[in-house]
Amino acid sequence: MADPNTALADKSSLDVEKIRNEFPILSKKFNGKPLIYLDNGATTHKPKCVIDRVQKFDAEEYGTVRRGSYKLSERATQLYEESRQKVADFFGTPDRKEIVFTSGTTQAINLVAYSYGRKFVKAGDEIIISNIEHHANTVPWQVLCEEKGAKLRVIPVNDDGELVLEEYGKLLNDKTRLVAVNHVSNALGTINPVKEIVKMGHAAGAKVLIDGAQSSPHMQIDVKDLDCDFYTFSGHKMYAPSGIGGLYGKMELWESMIPYVTGGDMILQVTLEKTTYAKPPARFEAGTPPITQVIGLGAAIDFITGIGMDNIFEYEKSLLDYGTRLLQGIEGLKIIGNAKEKASIISFVLDAAHPHDVGTLLDQDGIAVRGGHHCAQPTMIRFGVPATTRASMSFYNKYEELDVLAESIQKVIKMFS
Ligand code: ALA
Repeated sequence: MADPNTALADKSSLDVEKIRNEFPILSKKFNGKPLIYLDNGATTHKPKCVIDRVQKFDAEEYGTVRRGSYKLSERATQLYEESRQKVADFFGTPDRKEIVFTSGTTQAINLVAYSYGRKFVKAGDEIIISNIEHHANTVPWQVLCEEKGAKLRVIPVNDDGELVLEEYGKLLNDKTRLVAVNHVSNALGTINPVKEIVKMGHAAGAKVLIDGAQSSPHMQIDVKDLDCDFYTFSGHKMYAPSGIGGLYGKMELWESMIPYVTGGDMILQVTLEKTTYAKPPARFEAGTPPITQVIGLGAAIDFITGIGMDNIFEYEKSLLDYGTRLLQGIEGLKIIGNAKEKASIISFVLDAAHPHDVGTLLDQDGIAVRGGHHCAQPTMIRFGVPATTRASMSFYNKYEELDVLAESIQKVIKMFS
């Protein structure tokens, strides 16, 4: 199998064993085998500092936010807003009020489709997505277009899974109201040239939303440098608890948008005749928010920024290159998505077995991967496959784990031939 002399381990500046010790679940066994967790594109595990922070908050500091006049509530509100500041720093905006918390990327995109889309998209307008979007960045726009009589247009991809920018340029026109594309494809791993996509969209007068669910755990993001109008993220893919995520939006846009969910805490004043709305971000955070999860998100951001996003990117790139070389050498295996710029995902099909069977058999060796369409059916259709097996990596994965993955795949192939 892998020649240790050709391993790229020495390129890494991470102490992976030390990092792994921070994740209690990584020392567990499943099916009698050490867990090899390669489903980080679906969700990531939590380091002890996040687990401990959440536990301490719930045990000693929990209280409602923005409502109580007593110490406990004031302190919880302060911690809640400190987490918002951490998110703002992480994504590169100096104004924490440009960050709105939601349950994750799905809700964040639905929020924009409702709060921006319902107000600003009219009959005859056009919205552009790409052929390699997650359903969460497809269905909300389809629903909006249907409701408004607008048209959904799609940027095609080449056979490597890269967006064809020339075709994107042709789709843009003065009817384009919004462009919504992912930064990293969850099904293929393609890193899209989002800065260029934003620039081209703006030149046509459109607003641009970037779905950052798969990029934010892996690389340094600077929303001001990208100049995007919205940028979404999911905490549970960033080593934080599930049920928390959100989005950055430019303040002038937030101020122009209508509320998505209405109720408590998003108002300025309510009479029985009329309601006026609070300023952003409160206007978009109706009801009691997931307070504990927000605190956990702050701890997760401290953890990954402590490692360093550039270090994470470099190490994961080495893992990706190593895994790609290993899997490319397996006869009867085809990698789907060979973009020049990729992050942390290897999607593949075997001649011998269906991805669902592959996933079940790899599990026997303690390997967790996702088999299916990855909530990206239009991507599967484009590549002529019903599904793929996806190995998605994190900085806590090791080269040796990819060796075991490759050996286990060989076993599956043998079993079916
Ligand atoms: N979007 C997540 C994935 O790609 C759930 O697996």
